[in-house]
Parts: sequence; C-alpha cells; structure tokens
Amino acid sequence: MAKPKVVVSAPLPADLRERVEAECEILEVPVGVSPLEKLTQDELSSVEGYLTTVRTKFDEEVLKKLPSLKVVSNFAVGYDNVDVDAATNANVLICNTPKVLDGAVADIAIGLMLCLTRDMVNGDAYVRDGSWAAKGAPALTSDMRGKTLGLLGMGRIGRVVAKTAKAFDMRVLYHNRNRCDISEREGLAEYCDRDTLFSESDFLSVHVPLTEETQGSIASREFKLMKSSAYFINTARGGVVNEQDLIDALEANEIAGAGLDVMVKEPLPADSPLCKMKNVVLQAHVGSGTVETRRAMIQLAVDNLLDALSKNKPEAMVNPEVWGQV
Ligand code: DGY
Repeated sequence: MAKPKVVVSAPLPADLRERVEAECEILEVPVGVSPLEKLTQDELSSVEGYLTTVRTKFDEEVLKKLPSLKVVSNFAVGYDNVDVDAATNANVLICNTPKVLDGAVADIAIGLMLCLTRDMVNGDAYVRDGSWAAKGAPALTSDMRGKTLGLLGMGRIGRVVAKTAKAFDMRVLYHNRNRCDISEREGLAEYCDRDTLFSESDFLSVHVPLTEETQGSIASREFKLMKSSAYFINTARGGVVNEQDLIDALEANEIAGAGLDVMVKEPLPADSPLCKMKNVVLQAHVGSGTVETRRAMIQLAVDNLLDALSKNKPEAMVNPEVWGQV
C-alpha cells in the first residue's frame, strides 16, 4: 500500500524524520510558507497529514485546496493559525502540544517579572558601560516577593505560574471564563472579577489563547485600571493586546513597565517604540524555547500526526469530535 503523503513544515530532528519516513512520504514546505505557494496541484490533492508551526495558516481557503487532508499536527500548544470550525466541517483533525511546555513558558513569565522589578537588564548595562564605576551604585529597585500577581487565564500554564509565584510568597489572583476549583481548593489562587484583577495586581500576566473573543481585548481601558506601579506581562499571544494602547499607557506612565515574549507582529520590527523603552523587557517568542521542551513538543507533534494517520487515538486533539471520522 502506498504510504500517506505528509507535509513537514517544522524543524524535525533526524531521528524523528526517520520515524515519519518509515510510515509516510514526506513533502517539504519551508517553515511559515503556505502550501499553496509551494506544492503542485497533485501534491495538494493528495496530502493527508501536515506537521506545522503556528506560522502557517489553515483557513477555509487553504483547507479547501487540501481535499485529502486528515490531520494538522501543530508544533505548538496554540492553534490560532487554524480555523478550527472550518477544519471540523472538513473533518480535519487538529492536534497540538499541551502540557509539555507549561514549565518553560511559566519560567519566562516569572523571569520577565523579576527582570522588570529588579531592573536587571538595565542593571547589566550599568555594569558593562562603566556607569557603576563612574556613578556609583544604581537606584534601588523593588521586591517581587510578597506582591500581588494577577493571572488573566487559569489554564495549565497559569497554574504553573501560580505555583512558582507561591515560592515568592506572592498573593495570586486569577480571572478565567470558568472557575478553577482545584486551584482555589489548593490555596493556589483566589478568583476575582476581571476589573479587580487589573486594578489590584502588581504584576498582570496574560495566559489566554488568541481567539475572536480575546483579540485586542486588553486595551486602554484595562491599562487605565492598572496601578501606575504595576507591570504587564504577556507570554501568550501578542494579538490579545491592543499594542498601540499598551505603548500609549507606557508612554503616559499609566503602568510601570511591560515584559513581552509575544507581539502583534513577529519578529517585532526594530523601529517599534517598544524597543526604545527602558522599562520594557522583550523576548523573541521563546517561552517554550528550551532544548528539552522543544524536543518534547516535536515528539508529541510527531506522535499525534502518526497516530492520527494510523487510526490510533492521538494524545492531544483540539477538535476530538472529528476523531473517528478521520
Ligand atoms: C505555543 O506553543 O503556542 C508557543 O507559543 C509557540 O507558538
């Protein structure tokens, strides 16, 4: 029997490539390039599986051009690159990589908080450029310990951030569409309404997915609710924030600073006002970017892909209602 054709459009280590090749015929599409730009009509018609990063869009138009597609396996926990309703209508299973990246993303959120409140990035420059020797000790900073952390979104990553924050003796508040009873029972976090979260937090950390509902949902109104001493942290998706409103809030000193691993446009253009602000710490969307975590993610993405094609139930399905129809 002919092997199913799969597109690989994600960085795939040699041993995992061999595993995929043992069961499938691989077509290569460079990361972030649409299949419509790269594949021939025949190839488009026969592709059954797709291993991809979030940089490739799967909207209705793309899905229509892939009539044999059974599974899109995202090398990411987020799946805002996929129109899930359109995929479900087309009986295309969407898989992702939850759980394995929770710790790494939580670490970056906590790291951004520490960098900001202890002014560590500017502190590093102060030593390197001779300011310490020339001007003496730098200005005092403020504690993270004992402060209030507000989590917008209390999924798996939010919970790990809350657990880590407890080691810093922080009070943790959260707001989420659904109450997280287990976190409340464990004494990990207290629920509050959305406005209270913004107004009481010393650090506001975002952990919601990018959806139609969350797009641009953190804007001028939310920044005005925040304390002028508070820091805004985003390791989720840039699109949930109105970035111009964030820039305006920073320029007007409505908040003390921001730590961003994600932006509306990635890579962030170097002429963005954010790049010039001393009270902003930036990362290049590397929340999950450790050797160990990326390996676990790509392994899970490959397992999901091969399982779906061989009719074993994949571990992580976004639209499990399609399973069985694939
Ligand atoms: C994820 O897994 O969603 C990361 O943000 C990479 O896009």
